[in-house]
Amino acid sequence: MTPSSPTHSTKKTAITTLGEDRHMHSSYSQFRWICALGMGIAIGNVVIPMSYMEFAPHNNTFTHNQHMRYSAGTVSDKYKNSKSANTWEELVEQKQMFASQSIPTPAAPVAMETPKLSSKERKKIMITGGAGFVGSHLADKLMMEGHEVIILDNFFTGQKTNIDHWMSHPHFSLIVGDVVDPIHLEVDEIYHLACPASPPHYQFNPVKTIKTSTEGTMNMLGLAKRVGAKILLTSTSEIYGDPQVHPQKEDYWGNVNPMGPRSCYDEGKRVAETMMYAYKHSNNVDVRIARIFNTFGPRMHPNDGRVVSNFVIQSLQNKPITIYGEGEQTRSFQYVSDLVDGLHALMNGKYGAPVNLGNPQEFTVAEFATTIKEMTASKSEIKKLEKTADDPNKRKPDISLAKQELNWEPKVSVKEGLAKTIEYFRMVLLSTGEIIPTGPGASKPQN
Ligand SMILES: NC(=O)c1ccc[n+]([C@@H]2O[C@H](COP(=O)([O-])OP(=O)(O)OC[C@H]3O[C@@H](n4cnc5c(N)ncnc54)[C@H](O)[C@@H]3O)[C@@H](O)[C@H]2O)c1
Repeated sequence: MTPSSPTHSTKKTAITTLGEDRHMHSSYSQFRWICALGMGIAIGNVVIPMSYMEFAPHNNTFTHNQHMRYSAGTVSDKYKNSKSANTWEELVEQKQMFASQSIPTPAAPVAMETPKLSSKERKKIMITGGAGFVGSHLADKLMMEGHEVIILDNFFTGQKTNIDHWMSHPHFSLIVGDVVDPIHLEVDEIYHLACPASPPHYQFNPVKTIKTSTEGTMNMLGLAKRVGAKILLTSTSEIYGDPQVHPQKEDYWGNVNPMGPRSCYDEGKRVAETMMYAYKHSNNVDVRIARIFNTFGPRMHPNDGRVVSNFVIQSLQNKPITIYGEGEQTRSFQYVSDLVDGLHALMNGKYGAPVNLGNPQEFTVAEFATTIKEMTASKSEIKKLEKTADDPNKRKPDISLAKQELNWEPKVSVKEGLAKTIEYFRMVLLSTGEIIPTGPGASKPQN
């Protein structure tokens, strides 16, 4: 495990490695510049007031000391009465000045300002899998509320680019580590997301996927029990398997094949739910369980082989849009900000049994392919491939429990969410060039 928060004694190291970061992220930095120049006020999903947008120069002869002076100088412009820090020691002395904002870096050239909460209001919140698609958006929400966020991630499918805008914020810590290893920390809440979510990635090493869901969940529950933290598990609609009940309600027990290619994920999550239940009843741990239905949005892994990312990437490149089977199977898709709001409402409410979080708007896969093709004005043809094993025929959440218990329902329409996702992948393609989407078989995440 490598704690790499710049907030503690590692601060000097974090600053002196900036040169390396700049080279590692040069293409992504270009992407950020394009985003920043195009949109003016946004990085990822975090909107920054214009007054805080101060860009660091891209200059390969920029030395570490110069970088320190530049960062301190830009920040101190906001604090007209503070003296600017020219040395490392002065920077440490004036730490208070940075207490609620990041130091701009070449990889994230915007000072990320967050609200100042009193130490009583500010919670220490751990997100396992926080460098992934959903976890990084959740981190944005919790950081923007002024909490301290600790991310634990093994970077199997997570990407540093999803979180690098927080790397130099004093309330943010990254632990590169695996949930299958026990960890000792003091936290108030744990959002336990760590687990690859796309079929090609969770099938790449099924035994590891099972360990992540079982040993990993056991470890996180042990931590929650020791420190008295609330814990939320991101379970999945996959626990309903190929459902014989439509739409799916939380009291449906599911129709899961225990021996198929998807079972490492489906059964792993089912056991994880059972563990949550056992710790709640035997050890009084305060648990929350979200059963998440298909979710999409910016920061999805471009090679995760999921419906939305594949269709958008294929359409934008005018490559064949590949559907498995006749495309008559149905799916419902929710936009990521709705999911993050639902997870937050669940954690902060009192309801301790499983809750579906999804958008009930249902599409056939073929309809969805046509919608994306039209929205991207693509010349792609739609190509039918062989149906994959155990692919569910119908999937649609009944969300009446979430409405009743959490006062939650999705706000973003599928088309609105798709428009944002298409723009995101357009930027990714601009910065990376060609992307060949992952097919149906097991595969290692490719960056
Ligand atoms: N996105 C969806 O449509 C969806 C649907 C249902 C459930 N979920 C659940 O939501 C959670 C997040 O999904 P996502 O879409 O962001 O997936 P993702 O693959 O983008 O994120 C998962 C993160 O967990 C990390 N991780 C994986 N194994 C780990 C381990 N052993 N130790 C530490 N970190 C590990 C990965 O590196 C990655 O950062 C997952 O638990 C998933 O099962 C997602």
